[in-house]
Amino acid sequence: MPLQPFTLERYFAKHEFSARYLLSSSDCEPLPMTDLLAMASDGTAALWHDLTLAYTESAGHPLLREMIASIYRGLNAEDILTAAPEEIIYLFMNTFLEPGDHVVSTFPGYQSLYELARARSCRLSFWKPREEEGWAFTAADLEALLEQDTKLVVMNFPHNPTGYVPPAKEYEKMVRMATDRGALVFSDEMYRFLEIVPGTTLPAACELSDRAVSLFGLSKSFGLPGLRTGWLACRDGDILRNMQELKDYTTICGSAPSEILAMIALENRVRIITGHIERVRKNLALLQDFGKRLLVTSPQDLSQVTGQPAVFELIPPVGGSVCFPRLPGVGSTFDFCERLVNEASIMLLPSKLFEWDDTHVRIGLGRENFPEVLERFVRYL
Ligand SMILES: Cc1ncc(COP(=O)(O)O)c(C=O)c1O
Repeated sequence: MPLQPFTLERYFAKHEFSARYLLSSSDCEPLPMTDLLAMASDGTAALWHDLTLAYTESAGHPLLREMIASIYRGLNAEDILTAAPEEIIYLFMNTFLEPGDHVVSTFPGYQSLYELARARSCRLSFWKPREEEGWAFTAADLEALLEQDTKLVVMNFPHNPTGYVPPAKEYEKMVRMATDRGALVFSDEMYRFLEIVPGTTLPAACELSDRAVSLFGLSKSFGLPGLRTGWLACRDGDILRNMQELKDYTTICGSAPSEILAMIALENRVRIITGHIERVRKNLALLQDFGKRLLVTSPQDLSQVTGQPAVFELIPPVGGSVCFPRLPGVGSTFDFCERLVNEASIMLLPSKLFEWDDTHVRIGLGRENFPEVLERFVRYL
């Protein structure tokens, strides 16, 4: 089966560099390179200064892999393979899955997490959240989807686009349930450490079971998507070996400057991520305030604001840098977003791009100019 276009990435390709205001970005405010370099230790500053632009080691710079492994309890450098985050998904799905395999995936979500399985003619079951219960993904719902021969369970917490993070006990139950049934867990943890509600950081899946693998990288929580640096943390050597063999046909190895810059970011992990979380929390408070302004007004007031009865329903995200409010008063959110980008040059993602309904939008909370863009959005409404 041929690969379907990646709907969300195509939409970004169309508008991201022409719209003046972005209200849907999932990455946190990208760091200027000079700021990142200023954080280098003597060791990484020397690596940067002496860098030669040669090919790099296919699995990743040994020191970078060591630094990555130190984030995880019980993992070593040889349990890490680096590549761009999206590339990791591609390498994993194309080496682990065979036609006919049964795959369960959180849904809605980042399309490649299930599209590659679909393209490999796998049998797909979508594990959907309960909006009325705060976008909860539950272990009970997962159990109902597991089959005798389920090969893979794909999870993504903090979840894009809802921001849901299950309680730790529930999450551990989900991982145990899947692995006890013989499935492998692919856990997309791209928004890890960006928990908005304090104390909700989950263990990495790869720490809970050697039948679980964890995807992470620098694009979202670190605000460094331009480095194109991610990794798979995995205690199964065969999985990593197979992925590395396919990587010879994609990028062969990582970018030499990115590897050193990634080390500098990892050295300063807490400092960098703390800045991003504070911004996300501030922006979320502004958005909630905006929501209240729309919710508490009378129908007449509302009609003055929007021309029709409109409300803004937000289930606050527990973690990550995005949320998925409902805008029931604007009609089709797909059409609304088209008008918004054409008339006000504000890019907002409609839920249709997630193959979800046509009443939600994804809002990104990680950018520095969020207050200004939100104000423009309110004015447009
Ligand atoms: C859940 C999730 N996984 C993976 C990715 C891919 O990350 P990158 O764009 O850095 O390759 C994204 C990007 O939006 C994402 O949201």
